[in-house]
Amino acid sequence: MELSDSLRRRHSTRLYKEEPVSDDEILMLCDAATFAPSPMNSQPWHFHVATGTARRAVGEIMALTTQYLEEYIDVLGTEGVDRAARFYGDLGKAPVAIAVSVPVLDDPAEHDKVLIGVGAAVENFMLAALDSGLGCCNISAPRWVVDRLVEAFRIPEGRMLATLVIVGHPDEEPVPHDRKHDVVTFVGR
Ligand SMILES: Cc1cc2nc3c(=O)[nH]c(=O)nc-3n(C[C@H](O)[C@H](O)[C@H](O)COP(=O)(O)O)c2cc1C
Repeated sequence: MELSDSLRRRHSTRLYKEEPVSDDEILMLCDAATFAPSPMNSQPWHFHVATGTARRAVGEIMALTTQYLEEYIDVLGTEGVDRAARFYGDLGKAPVAIAVSVPVLDDPAEHDKVLIGVGAAVENFMLAALDSGLGCCNISAPRWVVDRLVEAFRIPEGRMLATLVIVGHPDEEPVPHDRKHDVVTFVGR
């Protein structure tokens, strides 16, 4: 697929088939991620991959978050909260959950730069997944269960959870994108 098509066709997948994803496929996607830019080429990311029993443990932790989602009722509405609760309840049956960790940094500006690098890496990962017929969804690590997730993914001391990505074979049609277009201002020529 042409890159320009991939960029437009990538979407977040929230329902997956039972079909497993092989370790080699995951390694290939993580390798694609590592070609992303990062501040001073620090490559701050590490990918902690949960499959099988580890994936089930992550699912049980994520399911705990459904009790807190009411906090978002003003943003998501009742239907949105219900949808989020269903999704967090089983992570769309995705066979693989990946935690992306970064070093703990004292300087907030340095931390922000690291997260921009992680965003680029995750986008690479997701585009490579699309190219392989796989789907993904980036999930902001829910603050209520971060410590449990850090433990389940065995993220070592000195590192922290930046984001989660789930991966699998999509079992849903792509949802049409809703995009803002008025996002560019030329400030001089
Ligand atoms: C950092 C980040 C965190 C996200 N967290 C969640 C999440 O917690 N739950 C969810 O369903 N989607 C999550 N998403 C997916 C976004 O909702 C999705 O990217 C956005 O609605 C645009 O849709 P698209 O990815 O299909 O283009 C997240 C995306 C990003 C980049």
